[in-house]
Amino acid sequence: MKPAVGLIGLGLMGKPMGANLLKAGFPLTVWNRTRAKTEDLARQGAKVAGSPREAAASSDVLLTIVSDPPALEEILWGASGALEGLRRGSIYIDSSTVAPSLARRIAKACAERGVEFLDAPVTGGTWGAEKGELVFMVGGSAETLKHVEPVLGAMGKRWFHLGPHGAGQTVKLAMNMILALQVDALAEALALVTSAGVAPERLVEVMQSSMARSPLLDIKAPMILARNYAPSFPLRLMHKDLGLALDLANQLGVPLPATAVAREIYNAVKGSAKEDLDYAAVARFWQKA
Ligand SMILES: NC(=O)c1ccc[n+]([C@@H]2O[C@H](COP(=O)([O-])OP(=O)(O)OC[C@H]3O[C@@H](n4cnc5c(N)ncnc54)[C@H](OP(=O)(O)O)[C@@H]3O)[C@@H](O)[C@H]2O)c1
Repeated sequence: MKPAVGLIGLGLMGKPMGANLLKAGFPLTVWNRTRAKTEDLARQGAKVAGSPREAAASSDVLLTIVSDPPALEEILWGASGALEGLRRGSIYIDSSTVAPSLARRIAKACAERGVEFLDAPVTGGTWGAEKGELVFMVGGSAETLKHVEPVLGAMGKRWFHLGPHGAGQTVKLAMNMILALQVDALAEALALVTSAGVAPERLVEVMQSSMARSPLLDIKAPMILARNYAPSFPLRLMHKDLGLALDLANQLGVPLPATAVAREIYNAVKGSAKEDLDYAAVARFWQKA
């Protein structure tokens, strides 16, 4: 019999992940702060819990995917929080992107309750979440990971066991540094050629035939050229991840100069935007000028 899964957080990522769990036949209970966002999954067969605690209590495997560390702390330790609902012997997986230190704190709280924890942030974006092709970066026990592989397999195509608790989050932050810097570099280069009177599309054409080609270019270059920044991976979340990477680097005494500058550019765009934007909107830093 398939384990009962609980899912907390039905944002851009959580909702399609939930739909894929239902498609794969897992009994699913969901909770989201804004209840209206549970309606689609309820129509597809999910039960809706009244609180994070209730969602946790009904689950053999609990999965959370919320915005940031304060959101995760709220659903775990806030009123009717999930931690107090987790059953002894159950497994809790967090797929939000948060600080590795928070992942270790959660692991400790889970261990005190006889619950196995995995930090398992994801990469692959909303399209990966929709297609069930996410990649999980996992910290925690390899044996626990083995137990939940069928659950991860309903939402993703690969998972990497990277070490003890926090290792998944560490690699995730490093991954997002690379993506943020790549898009920032693309935006700078497009600004240069445009100012020099060359059509920006021509740079993208050349890049597609060069070492600079990447799947990221396929997705983000058309958004920048069309100035269409409907959020897929919101800039506010990339800004959060760059901050988390810099915090970790400060703790470890590792200099990240390029990331520090990029974070300020993302910060400037975030500060001036009124709407929710994709992180490709970092190009607005030059487009406005
Ligand atoms: N989008 C991507 O492409 C992508 C890719 C990889 C990883 N991630 C990571 O995945 C996580 C979720 O991303 P997303 O794109 O799904 O974000 P999102 O669309 O902004 O959704 C955020 C979710 O967190 C909930 N939330 C926020 N603050 C809360 C609070 N104080 N208490 C309870 N719930 C709260 C929101 O509830 P409401 O509905 O009530 O606002 C919503 O369910 C983030 O950590 C992000 O960095 C995202």
